[in-house]
Amino acid sequence: MYDNWEELKNNCMNCRKCALGETRTNLVFGVGNPNAEVLFIGEGPGEQEDLRGEPFVGRAGQLLDKMLAVIDLDRNKNIYIANMVKCRPPKNRDPKPEEQEQCINWLRNQTKLIRPKIIVCLGRISASKIIKPDIKITREHGIFFERNGTLLMATLHPAALLRNPNQKPEAMKDYFKLRDKIREICDHTYTE
Ligand code: URA
Repeated sequence: MYDNWEELKNNCMNCRKCALGETRTNLVFGVGNPNAEVLFIGEGPGEQEDLRGEPFVGRAGQLLDKMLAVIDLDRNKNIYIANMVKCRPPKNRDPKPEEQEQCINWLRNQTKLIRPKIIVCLGRISASKIIKPDIKITREHGIFFERNGTLLMATLHPAALLRNPNQKPEAMKDYFKLRDKIREICDHTYTE
């Protein structure tokens, strides 16, 4: 564990712990404010993310930014966004269990330094790893779970919403619940 953000980032950027490091264009460490009270966790970089070195910059990311804007959240201001795995799995295959296992310590270290009050898991892959293995996103999205003083919530992955746009209103309700929770428990997310 590193206790300094820049040191963590520099070491992570050079990671070669698994085979995904051999095929990546760019490692995708994360984006946002490391002092944020709200942390979003996706699955892993896709093609655009690999090319640009930033999470959620493709079509799903554009949708995510729009939904965030509705509740006054902005990746360049008051949140942090990271992924379960930092390097793109070739052809967007699911990250293998051993790749996730090797990578998750970077995310743990990021979480430890950010000390978020709320973690939002985008989609099943991160929700099942971070909230509980048997989570059913369709039934349990929008519910806050408490763990060691941190609130955890899952919502539908924006890429799933691109495939099923009829689920957007349902997903948007999660963002409104998130806004209410931020107003209730966060100190500076909406005031800085
Ligand atoms: N999907 C994810 O889960 N993460 C990204 O960074 C991009 C797409």
